[in-house]
Amino acid sequence: MNLKLATLSAAVVLGLSLTAPAVASQTLAQFHGEMGGCETCHAGEKLKDIKAGLTDSQTHENKMCVECHGGYEELKSTKPNTHIDPHSSHLGDINCTACHAAHDKPEMTCNRCHNFDFEMPFADAKQKKAWNGDWNQEKIQAAIAKGPQETVDVIVVGGGSAGLNAAMAAKMKGASVVLLEKNDYTGGNSMLAAGGYNASETRQQKEKGVPDTKELFVADAMKGGRNQNDIELVKVLAEHSAEGIEWLESLGANMEDLKFSGGQTEMRTHRPAGGYSVGPHIIDTLRKAAIKHDVDVRVNSRVEKIVLNDDQSIAGVVVHGRHTGYKMIAADAVILATGGYGMNKEMVAYYRPTMADMTSSNNITATGDGILLAKEIGASMTDIDWVQAHPTIGKDSRILISETVRGVGAIMVNIHGERFISEMTTRDRASDAVLKQPEQYAWLVFDQQLVEKKKMVEGFDHLGMLSKANTVAELAEITGMKNLAATVTEYNQFYKDGKDPKFGRSALPADIVKAPFYAVKVAPGIHHTMGGVAIDTDANVLNLQSWKMEGLYAAGEVTGGIHGYNRLGGNAVADTVVFGKIAGENAAKFALEKK
Ligand code: FUM
Repeated sequence: MNLKLATLSAAVVLGLSLTAPAVASQTLAQFHGEMGGCETCHAGEKLKDIKAGLTDSQTHENKMCVECHGGYEELKSTKPNTHIDPHSSHLGDINCTACHAAHDKPEMTCNRCHNFDFEMPFADAKQKKAWNGDWNQEKIQAAIAKGPQETVDVIVVGGGSAGLNAAMAAKMKGASVVLLEKNDYTGGNSMLAAGGYNASETRQQKEKGVPDTKELFVADAMKGGRNQNDIELVKVLAEHSAEGIEWLESLGANMEDLKFSGGQTEMRTHRPAGGYSVGPHIIDTLRKAAIKHDVDVRVNSRVEKIVLNDDQSIAGVVVHGRHTGYKMIAADAVILATGGYGMNKEMVAYYRPTMADMTSSNNITATGDGILLAKEIGASMTDIDWVQAHPTIGKDSRILISETVRGVGAIMVNIHGERFISEMTTRDRASDAVLKQPEQYAWLVFDQQLVEKKKMVEGFDHLGMLSKANTVAELAEITGMKNLAATVTEYNQFYKDGKDPKFGRSALPADIVKAPFYAVKVAPGIHHTMGGVAIDTDANVLNLQSWKMEGLYAAGEVTGGIHGYNRLGGNAVADTVVFGKIAGENAAKFALEKK
């Protein structure tokens, strides 16, 4: 390996500040070009060869980065103490080019959500015009007129958990599959999921003696959703929830840990052992499985149209490739797995104006594309105006403080240090209660026992979000919560007694006794859009007359109906796996039978 390059890239991967090795305004491409010409990175020296070898995922270019510099794991091993880096917290092993734009200014991908203050090499290079502009109708129509440039059985739109599960399931049923993701890496909102996966009657629950049933799962989801859920969809979710866990395990996931989330009668939130976040773990598992099973996953590939035949059957899609432009791909089945619209300000302002100014915990990918694509061809929508506020997003940030932090023992208090609601109530009620506080924010308070159980809290500390003290009295002093000590004493007594007579908190898993003690400021923010494309129990999209749209399937947050007016924590990840798999299997069956 070239040592100079290795040092440079190790620093870059680990997020260290570094001065560019050459004069300002030089680009990464110029730097590499001087070493060995265009061929250092591209598949050829001449423009025509480079163009012929260029894919939207920049497959060859990324392979060359890894060949010279080593992969992420290799680079990371050069700095073993920096275990909290963006890759290990949730980005995972993504294409180098997602951040290191070679011919332009590099992109600080982390700063789409954070505010890290470090400079990447070649930061003085010229910024390229943003790619995410308006969908170009002229180019879409030209691509349709030109006809399909490729044909597959199943096209999956979106590369979060629902999309990756759907693609894997379709592939395993023998279909040829292409997954198209508009972002420069897969993962969607799922890669930020910090809570867990709700499932009933699992091996894990049986081993721990948790007396849960599928019927209780359904009852809890219906109650949480204010009985506005489509009960048939909820029954499917509960019925297949344990099977979904087994499917993930068969692909290499660890789902050993069990926690409570809000609105649960029994403990059914499954997570990886060791306190790791569920989303990044599942996405990492699925990314690796997709490579192993040779699923064609393409990033930088935004679907801008679903194309229908004259008889209204599915003809395929028009995809806008960031590097290759517009083209039509033909398929008999299309699966929409594009996620919700929690990051589309215009859609939130239209459907839920009261939440228009709220922060959002969502990934930048959650822009409602699938809803727009499906609406355009006559799909029906369910509960489209129902948007969920999560009560505990770090105040003035986009960082979610997972409900499982309360699930393992944190208490929620007002600015005086007084509890005001059961911490384990549903999100809509908890968010309303916080918004009724005059200051419209609250604090979560916990101790070192909790930090030892929940690795993700170290990340909050690393981000500078936590107030920390050696005694509760000192914490009260720092934060101004004058009644905190009395509240903690009272709560610890409730823990001893095994019940909370004040607010009826259902789970009291720990007391708050071990120093240091911590507090983090939280406020509600947009977390999930419950409404979306209407589907039936086969994940088949329904039209305005509630008839099946043959060949069109949808799964995950792009759909509506499963969660009613309020989703329970842990039911979204389950939804993406269970309905992603159903959509993939049914789409494959449909396309293969049509042949
Ligand atoms: O709070 C959370 O951990 C979120 C979980 C979820 O939305 O399912």
